[in-house]
Amino acid sequence: MTFSKVGIIGAGTMGSGIATSLGQQGVAAHLVDTADAAVERGLGAAKKFYDRAAEKGKMSSEDAASAFGNLSGSTDLASLSDCDLIVEAIFEEFSVKAELFGRLKPHVGKNTVVATNTSALRVSDLAETVDDPSRFLGLHYFNPAAINPIVEVVKGEKTDPDIYETCMAFCRNTRKKPIACKDAFGFAINRFFVPYGNEAVRMLDEGVGTPAQIDRVANECMEVAAGPFMVMNLVKPKIMFHAQRNLGPHGAFYALAGGLSEKGDSDYEFDIGEDAAGTPEGDAVIADRLRAATFFPVLQELDEGVATAADIDMGAGLALRFGKAPCELMDSLGREETTRIVAPIAEQYGHDLPASLDKVGSLRA
Ligand SMILES: NC(=O)c1ccc[n+]([C@@H]2O[C@H](COP(=O)([O-])OP(=O)(O)OC[C@H]3O[C@@H](n4cnc5c(N)ncnc54)[C@H](O)[C@@H]3O)[C@@H](O)[C@H]2O)c1
Repeated sequence: MTFSKVGIIGAGTMGSGIATSLGQQGVAAHLVDTADAAVERGLGAAKKFYDRAAEKGKMSSEDAASAFGNLSGSTDLASLSDCDLIVEAIFEEFSVKAELFGRLKPHVGKNTVVATNTSALRVSDLAETVDDPSRFLGLHYFNPAAINPIVEVVKGEKTDPDIYETCMAFCRNTRKKPIACKDAFGFAINRFFVPYGNEAVRMLDEGVGTPAQIDRVANECMEVAAGPFMVMNLVKPKIMFHAQRNLGPHGAFYALAGGLSEKGDSDYEFDIGEDAAGTPEGDAVIADRLRAATFFPVLQELDEGVATAADIDMGAGLALRFGKAPCELMDSLGREETTRIVAPIAEQYGHDLPASLDKVGSLRA
C-alpha cells in the first residue's frame, strides 16, 4: 500500500512545508484551511520555494512547475474524500483538533490513514477523536518541512502495525528519514533538545554565563551549527516555553527555567550580544551542564524505549545540526565521565540515574 493523494489540513508553516516537500517528490498534495487567503498563502509559499530552487539551479524550471502542479487547495473538508492519507497540521490545541476530527469523519475514506503533526499532544488521546484509531498515528515533521529530512513517526496505542510500517515506508519514499517513536511527551528529539535550551536559560538566570558565551561553549562542546540562544531566537522563545512546559510530566528536571516562565507566551528574543569571553573553569561548568541536560533525557528515552540510540543521533545530526550527536558523544566519553556529567541532575532534581548509563560505551552497538 502507498499513498497517491495526501490531504493536509492547515496551510500554515507546517502544512505548507509538508505540501512543498511532497509536491517535489511527485505526490499530489491537497491543502485545506479555513479561509481562501490562508490556502493561497500556503500554496504561494510552496511556489516561492520551487521558484527559488529553480533560480539557484537546485531544480529545473520544468521540475519546479511540475512540483507546483502536484499541489491544490480548498476550504472544503469534503474535498479530502479522495485522499488516502490526511495529515492534520492546525493549531496546537486539543479541543481545536478534536473538533476538526469530528467534522472530518464523513469525509474520511474507509481505507484512509489519518495522521497528526502535533508536537505536544498525545497521539493516543487524539486517536480517540477519530472513527478508527487503528488507522491513526503521528507524523511529526520538522520545520522547515520542505527541507528538514526528519519525521518522527509516532505509534499510538491502537495504531495498526501494518499501517505504521506503510507510513515509515512512505516517509522513506518521499526522501525523509523517519524515526520510529513511542508516544511520549517530546517524542525522540524535543525530549532532549528543549531541555538543552531550557538549561541554557537556567544558566543565564543564575549568572553562570552570558548568552554569547553559552552559545560559544555549545559550539565547542557539541559542535552545534548554532548555539542554544541563537536557535531559541530562530524557533521563538515562546515556542520553547510551550515545548518545555509540555515536558513537565517527565519530572522535576523538566521544570521551566525562570527566564522562560516569566516571559511566558510573549513575543521576545534573547539579546545575545557579543560578550562571549569566559574562563576555562567557567566554560567547563557550562559545557558540563549543556551536556548533562542533553544526555540525561536521552538516557531516560533509551530506558523507556522511546527511540533507538542510532535514530536519536540521526535526528540530532539532521534535524538539529548537532556535530556531535548525544549517544555517540556519550560512547566516546565513556561511562565514568558520562556518569560524572549527569549525576548532578539526578541528585538536584531527585531523579533516579538512568539504567542506560550502564550501556554507555556501546549505546549505538
Ligand atoms: N511550527 C513548527 O516549528 C512546528 C514543528 C513541528 C510541528 N508543529 C505542529 O504543527 C501544527 C501546525 O503548526 P504551524 O506552526 O504550522 O501553525 P500555523 O499557525 O503556522 O498554521 C496553522 C494553520 O491551521 C489553520 N487552521 C486552524 N484551525 C483550522 C481548522 N479547524 N481547519 C483548517 N485549518 C485550520 C490556520 O488557519 C493556519 O493556517 C501544530 O500542531 C504544531 O504544534 C509545528
